Amino acid sequence: MRQIHKAALAGLVTVSVILAVSAGMTMTAQETDAVATSDFVPAESDFACIRDMHAVRGFYVDNLLGDVDATLEVANSETGGTYPAGTIIQLVPTEAMVKREAGYNPLTNDWEFFELDVAASGATIRVRGSDEVVNQFGGNCLECHAKAEPQWDLICEQTHGCDPLPLTPAMLKAIQNTDPRCEAVELPADQQQALQMLQAFRAASGPKAD
Ligand code: HEC
Repeated sequence: MRQIHKAALAGLVTVSVILAVSAGMTMTAQETDAVATSDFVPAESDFACIRDMHAVRGFYVDNLLGDVDATLEVANSETGGTYPAGTIIQLVPTEAMVKREAGYNPLTNDWEFFELDVAASGATIRVRGSDEVVNQFGGNCLECHAKAEPQWDLICEQTHGCDPLPLTPAMLKAIQNTDPRCEAVELPADQQQALQMLQAFRAASGPKAD
């Protein structure tokens, strides 16, 4: 009797989940009709293993709307340019910039900034937004990235005019190579050493504010 009751309840739950999902889908379809197709909202599932993206010099790019060629064209241009909607750029697994639709926010050239938590199971969005997002060291993303010369569309690298990050190229490589969402790789000695220095630096700068 109890078993039957449980089964019936499970059935009911399933039905309501399906109803909720299909109601949600209908809403989304209606919303999509009303706006441009490029009006997308990045979701947690869009942030996967950093090394599965396309490597450009020291960082990684992709395009969540499928137009990776347009993204790569700007990334590889010697004179800069404006990244197309859907572009995602990451230097480290826990920070990302995603280009939203035109008009999302003129202050940020339509970039949305993300601070993420990453684990083997995937990414969780800790903070997202435009001018209010700060990184784990309390630095405001936009304040730094806005210092890039205008032709670089807020992308800093080492030579575009932003204040530098306190991370060496070996540290950055080591951070990229230890993204918990990617398959583990053996770190070369210089990257292992860089990681140890980074851990010592973090320990010395005290407990994190979170
Ligand atoms: C102290 C200034 C500063 C702050 C604060 C900062 N960044 Fe950066 N960011 C840089 C610099 C400089 C680079 C380039 C570093 C390099 O290539 O060695 C960079 C690189 C990046 C890149 C790779 C593309 C590029 O611009 O070179 C992304 C994506 C990024 N940062 C996102 C973020 C996000 C998201 C935040 C906030 C959560 C943030 N950054 C906060 C200075 C900063």
